[in-house]
Amino acid sequence: DRQKHIRNFSIVAHIDHGKSTLADRILEMTHSVAQRQMKAQILDDMPLERERGITIKMNSVEVHYDAKDGQRYIFHLIDTPGHVDFSYEVSRALAAADGALLVVDATQGVQAQTLANVYLAIDNDLEILPVINKIDLPSADPKGTKAEIEDDIGIDTSDAADVSAKTGLGVADLLEKIVKIIPAPTGDLNAPLQALIFDSKYDSYRGVVLSIRVKEGQIHLGDKIRLMNAGADYEVTELGVFSPDATPRKELIAGDVGYLTASIKDIHIARSGDTVTNADRPAQKALQGYRPMTPMVYAGIYPTDNGKYNELRDALDKLSLNDASLEYEPETSTALGFGFRVGFLGLLHMDVVQERLEREFDLEIVITAPTVTYHVIKTDGSEEDISNPSDIPDASSIKEIREPFVNATIMVPEQYVGTVMELAQAKRGIFDTMDYLDKSRVNVKYKMPLSEIIFDFFDKIKSSTKGYASLDYSLAGFFVSDLKKIDILLNGDKVDALSFISHKDFADNRARVVTGKLKKVIPRQNFEIPIQAAIGSKIIARTNIKAYRKDVTVKIHTGDPDRRAKLLDKQRAGKARMKSIGRVDVPQEAFMAILKNS
Ligand code: GTP
Repeated sequence: DRQKHIRNFSIVAHIDHGKSTLADRILEMTHSVAQRQMKAQILDDMPLERERGITIKMNSVEVHYDAKDGQRYIFHLIDTPGHVDFSYEVSRALAAADGALLVVDATQGVQAQTLANVYLAIDNDLEILPVINKIDLPSADPKGTKAEIEDDIGIDTSDAADVSAKTGLGVADLLEKIVKIIPAPTGDLNAPLQALIFDSKYDSYRGVVLSIRVKEGQIHLGDKIRLMNAGADYEVTELGVFSPDATPRKELIAGDVGYLTASIKDIHIARSGDTVTNADRPAQKALQGYRPMTPMVYAGIYPTDNGKYNELRDALDKLSLNDASLEYEPETSTALGFGFRVGFLGLLHMDVVQERLEREFDLEIVITAPTVTYHVIKTDGSEEDISNPSDIPDASSIKEIREPFVNATIMVPEQYVGTVMELAQAKRGIFDTMDYLDKSRVNVKYKMPLSEIIFDFFDKIKSSTKGYASLDYSLAGFFVSDLKKIDILLNGDKVDALSFISHKDFADNRARVVTGKLKKVIPRQNFEIPIQAAIGSKIIARTNIKAYRKDVTVKIHTGDPDRRAKLLDKQRAGKARMKSIGRVDVPQEAFMAILKNS
C-alpha cells in the first residue's frame, strides 16, 4: 500500500530556469524543513554551488505531502544540474525516477538544454509534467511557452502547471498534479532485491555511502548484500533516506530512493550503475547500468608540492566516486613532475574539479591548459590518440592530424542570427542548417572544432546576443585539420606543459598573444628570462621578462618584526600555486595563458 503512495520524480530544466528555487518551495510547502532552517537553494549544499548559484550535484530528498484526497504521499524529489557539462549527473538521476518536472522559464521559453534534458527524460521512459515558471514576471508568456513546448518537443501541455517558484504561486496546484500525473513505482516487493546505485560518496567514518533506487524486492538493516558487477559481498550497516538530512530507516522497499552504507572501504568497488542484490537470494541479472561518458577536454593536474602526489591520487579516487564522469591516469611532465591527465566534460566541469580538489581535499594544485584529443596518423601508417599536446610527435613523422568536431546547435532570436553566424565562421565553423522554430526563433547548426567551442565560443555568443542564445553540442567525429604544435621556451628550455596546438592560420597570432600573456604573469627574477614560441625549430614569437634592478629581499630584513612577518606571509601566499621550472617560478595563470585569444 505504501508503494502506491510513492512518487519519484526529478526536476530538469535549462540552466537558471528555476529548478532549485522550485525544489525550495516544494520543501517548504510540504513542511519538510523547519521555517528557521529554510534558506534559498537549500539542496545546493556544496559551498561551491551556493557561491556560484548553480547546481553541480544532484540531490535527492524525501518529503511527505498530504493531498486533497486525504491521503499522505511520499515524494522523492531529485534536483539536477542544468549546465551541459553536468548532463551525466542528470542522466543518472533520471534513472532513479519515474517522472520528471520539466521546468521552463516563461520569459525565456524552450532553450537548448531544455531540449537536451527533456530528451534524456524521454529516453528513460519518464512521465513528463511541464511546469511553466516565473509567471510573476511582467514579461512572462506562459501561453507562448506552452506552444513552444508542444511544437519543439511534441509533448502535451494541457496538464502543465503555471507557477512562480519564487512567490509560491501555483505550487499548491502543482503538488496535486504530481500525485495525479507522476505514476507510482511498480516493482514486486517479494522479488529478489535489485537496487540501482545512482550516486555515491566517500565518508571517512562510514566508508562509501551509496545512493540507491530500489527497483525490485526489499532491503533491510543487517542484510547480506552483493554488488553484482563488482562481485563483492557486504553487510548493510546503515539504511535511510535524505529528508534533507540523512534519516535512518530499518528497511527500504521497491520504489524507495535512499542510501545505504556497508563499511565499504575500497572506493574502486562501489561504482554508480552497479546493482545491489541480496547475497543469500541474488537476482538473476544486474540492472542496466550507465553508458560511460567520453570526456571532451583533458588537462594535466599536478601538486604544486611534488611530495603530494599520493595525496592527489587519493583525492582523485575519492572525488571520482562522487563525480562519475571524472577520468584520470598518471602522467609525467619534465617541467611539472608527476601528476595526472584528467578528462572533463567541459571547462566548467574542469573548474569545479579544480576547486573541489583544493577545498574538499585541501590540496594545492596546478592545472595545465585544457586540450581536446587529437587523432594522429603517422607516415609509417600507425595511429595514435593524443590528449597532451607535448606528446604530438615531430612534424616530419606525421601524415595528418584529425581533431574532434561537434554538431553545434545554437538557438537564437532571429535578430541575432547574423552575429552568431559571423562568430561561428570566425571559429572555423562549417554551416550546416538553419530552421525557423517559429516566427522569431531560429535554430542554427554548425559543424565546429570542439577546441574552438571550449575556448570562448559560448561566452562570446552569450555576450553578443545579450544572453539570448543557448548552445548545445554533441560529438560529430574526427576530421583532418591543418594543425601545428607550438612549443614554449622559457629561458631557452622547452616547457612541455606549455605546448599547445593551433590551427595553422591562427598560429602566429596565438604565439604572440601567449608569449605576451606569459610575460605579464611570470614574476620578474634577478636575471632576464627570454620567452619564445616555436614550431619545430623555427621561432615564431619572442619577448623578454626584464631582471629586477635591486634585490627586494633586502627590504624584508629591515623594518619591524611584525611588518617583516606580514611581508613573508604575503610572499608565501604569492608562491601558492606556483611551480618552479628550471630557475623560473611559473604561476598557475601562466598555464591558462594559452586559453587567451587576445
Ligand atoms: P541551475 O541549478 O544552476 O541550473 O539553476 P536553476 O535552474 O536551479 O535555477 P535557480 O533556481 O537557481 O534560479 C535561477 C534564478 O531565477 C534565481 O535568481 C532565482 O531567484 C530566479 N527565479 C527562480 N524562479 C523564479 C520565479 O518564479 N520568479 C522569478 N522572478 N525569479 C525566479
